[in-house]
Amino acid sequence: MKIAVVGTGYVGLVTGTCFAEVGIDVTCIDIDQKKIDNLHKGILPIYEPGLEEMVSRNVSAGRLHFSTNLKEAIQDCDVAFIAVGTPPGEDGSADLKYVLAVARGIGESMNNYCVVVTKSTVPVGTAAKVRKELDDALAKRGAAIEFDVASNPEFLKEGAAIDDFLKPDRIVVGISSERAEEVMSRLYKPFLLNGHPIIFMDIPSAEMTKYAANSMLATKISFMNDIANLCEIMGADVNMVRKGIGSDARIGTKFIYPGIGYGGSCFPKDVKALIKTASENGYEMQVLKAVESVNDAQKEVLFDKVSKHFGGELAGKKFAVWGLSFKPKTDDMREAPSLVIIEKLLAEGSTVSAYDPVAMEEAKHSLGDRITYAKDPFEALVDADALLVVTEWPEFRSPSFEVVGKLLKDKVIFDGRNIYDPAELRALGFAYHCIGVKT
Ligand code: UGA
Repeated sequence: MKIAVVGTGYVGLVTGTCFAEVGIDVTCIDIDQKKIDNLHKGILPIYEPGLEEMVSRNVSAGRLHFSTNLKEAIQDCDVAFIAVGTPPGEDGSADLKYVLAVARGIGESMNNYCVVVTKSTVPVGTAAKVRKELDDALAKRGAAIEFDVASNPEFLKEGAAIDDFLKPDRIVVGISSERAEEVMSRLYKPFLLNGHPIIFMDIPSAEMTKYAANSMLATKISFMNDIANLCEIMGADVNMVRKGIGSDARIGTKFIYPGIGYGGSCFPKDVKALIKTASENGYEMQVLKAVESVNDAQKEVLFDKVSKHFGGELAGKKFAVWGLSFKPKTDDMREAPSLVIIEKLLAEGSTVSAYDPVAMEEAKHSLGDRITYAKDPFEALVDADALLVVTEWPEFRSPSFEVVGKLLKDKVIFDGRNIYDPAELRALGFAYHCIGVKT
C-alpha cells in the first residue's frame, strides 16, 4: 500500500512513522520547508520518546519519505490522511481552514481512487465539507476520479504515542462505503494483532467519538479534582477515596488522579469545541461547562496553597519549580498549569527558578528570561523558600530529601501531583502540601 500523511505535527508524524514501521510506503507532507529539511536531517519538530529512532530506521529502509510536494506524494496513493492543525478560533470552535485547504489540494492532484481520511480532531460535519472540497476541485479539473472520505480519530497520548499507535485499545473509523471499509481494514490489519478491534461506524459518529472520549476523560479529572478539594475540607484522603472508587470496574482506576488541572493541546481545546458545537446547535453542555470551570480554578490551587502558607507575603520570595510541561515525557507547554502558577508568583513579586528535563526551551517562548532555568533539579532549590512540584517527571519521584532540605531555605514542599508520602516528609521535618491528601 502507498499512503500520504499531510501535516507533520504530533499526530501526522507519529501516524506516518508507525505505518512505515509495519512496511507501508509513506510520504509525510508539510508546507513548512524548514520542517521538512529538518526531518531529512533527522531533526524532529516534537519530542516523543522513541520517535527519532523510528523515523531514522524507516527513512533508511526507504519506506518513509518527507516532502513539501503534495501533488507528487498523492499520485497512486491508496489513502491520504489529513493531519494538519485545527487551532481554536477566538470563540473556541476549531478552525478548519488548513484541513479544507489540504482537501482541495488533494482533489487538485489525485490520479486514482483514494480514501481521504481526516485524522485531525475535527467537529462533526467536517468530513462532509472535505468531500465538497474534493468534489469541487475534481469538477474544476473535469476529472472523474472516484474517492471516499473517512474519519479516523486518533487517541494517542503524548509521551506514549508510539505504543498507543502500535497497540491501540481500538481503532475507530467512520466510513460511508464498503470499498473504503475494505481499504481501511487492509491498512490497519497489522495493528490488530493484539485482539483489539477496529470499529467501523458512520462518519458523524466517528467524529463525535473523538470529542466524547476526550470530554469524558476531562470530566473524570475535573470530578476528581472537585472531590480532592472537598476531601481537604472534610478531613478525608483523596488517595484512599481514589482507590476505593477505582476498584469498581464501572469507574476504573485510570484518569482519576487529582492534580493541578489538565492541560495540553487536546482536552482544553476539545472540551471548548464541544461546548461550542452544542451551543451553535441550540444545546447546552452543562456538565462540560462545569468541567472547564473546575479545571480553570484547579490550575490556581497550588498557588493558593503557597500564598496561604506564607500569609500572602510572597514579594521577594524565591520558589523552585520542578516540571514545566503539561505532563511528563513531553516538551509540550500548551495550556500547562505551570504557566498559570508561575505567572501568579511573578505577579506577586516572587522569583522563580525552574527545572524541567526537556521543556525549558519551549517554556522560554512564554516565560523568556522572567524566570531562571536551572541545570538540574537541585540547582533550582538553592536558597529557595519552597519547592513546587508541578509536573510528575519520574526523576522527581525520589530525590534525596536530605539534600532537598539542605538546599532549600526552609523545608517546604508544595506537591501538585501527590507524588510523595506525607508521613515520610513529615518525619523528615518538611511542611508538605499536596492535593486532597491528609498531610
Ligand atoms: C489526550 C488523551 O488522553 C488521548 O487519548 C488523546 O488522543 C489526546 O488527548 C488527543 O486528543 O490528541 P494527552 O493530551 O497527550 O492525551 O495527555 P493525557 O495523558 O491524556 O493527559 C492530559 C492531562 O490530564 C494532563 O495535564 C495530565 O496531567 C492530566 N491528568 C491525567 C490528570 O490530571 N489526572 C489524571 O488522572 C490523568
